[in-house]
Amino acid sequence: MNIAAPPPATDAGQPGPDAFAPAPFAHTPYDGSRKAFSVGLAPLDLAEWIEPDVKLAATLAERAALIREKRDVVVREEDGTRQAQREVLELVVAHVTTRFPEQYRLEGRRITVAATGQSFDLDDAGEAPLVIAGQLISDDLVLLRQGAGGYRLVAAVLCFPSAWSLAEKFGQSLDQLHEAVPGYESKLARVMNRIFDNLKVEQPVWRVNWSIYPDDELHHPESKERPRHWFEDPAHLAPEAFVRVERQTLRRLPESGDMLFTIRIHVDPFLAFRRHPEGGALAASLREQILGLDADQLAYKGLTDHRDAVAAALERIAAGA
Ligand code: HEM
Repeated sequence: MNIAAPPPATDAGQPGPDAFAPAPFAHTPYDGSRKAFSVGLAPLDLAEWIEPDVKLAATLAERAALIREKRDVVVREEDGTRQAQREVLELVVAHVTTRFPEQYRLEGRRITVAATGQSFDLDDAGEAPLVIAGQLISDDLVLLRQGAGGYRLVAAVLCFPSAWSLAEKFGQSLDQLHEAVPGYESKLARVMNRIFDNLKVEQPVWRVNWSIYPDDELHHPESKERPRHWFEDPAHLAPEAFVRVERQTLRRLPESGDMLFTIRIHVDPFLAFRRHPEGGALAASLREQILGLDADQLAYKGLTDHRDAVAAALERIAAGA
C-alpha cells in the first residue's frame, strides 16, 4: 500500500487552509508489505531517486542552519573524498534540474533553489561538494568506500539522523555501524556486505523503515551514551506520538565506485491516521507490527516501556474511537 491523501477541501470546494500541506503517509512500510529488521531492498527507478518535498523551503532552511551552527554534528569528511563528493554533487544537480526544473535554475555553474531563493556556486573551492549538495535537497547524503574491513562511512551530510550520532559512527564499517541492530550479525551482515560488494552502477535500490517517536523533530542526533528522551506520559500518547519513516536509497557512483546512501525522513502524527481514508487499516497494521516485535527489537525501537500504550492508542484509532 502506498497512499497519498488528496488535499482537504472546504465546503465551497475550494482548497482548505492546509491544502498545500504535505500528503501524509508517503510510505507505509508497516502496512504488511515489509518485515521490520529485514534487508527489504527493491529496485529503484532513478527518475524517482530524489522525492519532491512540498515543505522544501522550511526543510532547506533547517538544514542550512544546522550546517552553519552545528557543523561538527552534521558534517564529516575524510581526506581524499572530495572527488567522489563532487561526483555526488554533479549527479544531484543533473537530477534536480531535469526532474524539478521549476524549482532549480542552473545558470553557468551557479544553481538557484526557487523555494528559498538561495544560490550556490557549484565550483566553490571553499566548501565540501557534499555540503553544497546537502543544501539543495531534503535528503541526507552518506558516502561509503571499500576498505580492508568492508565498506566504511567516509563522508556525510547528516542533518536528520534517526537517533544516531555521525561523530560516533564516522569511519565505521557496515558491521560496526549496525552493531546495535538486533539480528544484524545472524540475519543481515552477510547479505548486506554481499550487496555492497556486487551492486552495479545500473542497479540502484531503495528501502524504507519505521519507528515511533515522541515528536516530529527531524534532527535526532542521539548518542548511544545519551539515549533519546522518550514519552513523558503514555496516557496522552495518541495525540502526541509520531510515526517516523526513513526512505533510503543506495547506488554505486560510476566514476569512483564508492557507494552513495541517501536518507529522507517523513514524519506523520498519529492524528493523521484519524483523518486519512485508510487510516484505520494503517493504524491496525502498525499495531500488528509493534506487537510482533521481540524483546530486543522492542528495546531497539525504544518501545519496551511503551508498547502497550502505543498499541492501545493505535487500537482506539483503528476502531474509530
Ligand atoms: C543494504 C543497505 C542497508 C540495510 C539493509 C540496512 C539495515 C538496517 C536495519 C535493519 C537497521 C535497523 C533499523 C531499520 O529497520 O532500518 C539499520 C539501522 C542503521 N543503519 Fe543501516 N542498513 C543499510 C545501509 C546502511 C548504510 C549505508 C548506513 C551508513 C550510514 C547505515 C547505517 C545505519 C545506522 C547508523 C543505523 C542505526 C544503528 C544504531 O541504532 O546504532 N545503514 N540498518
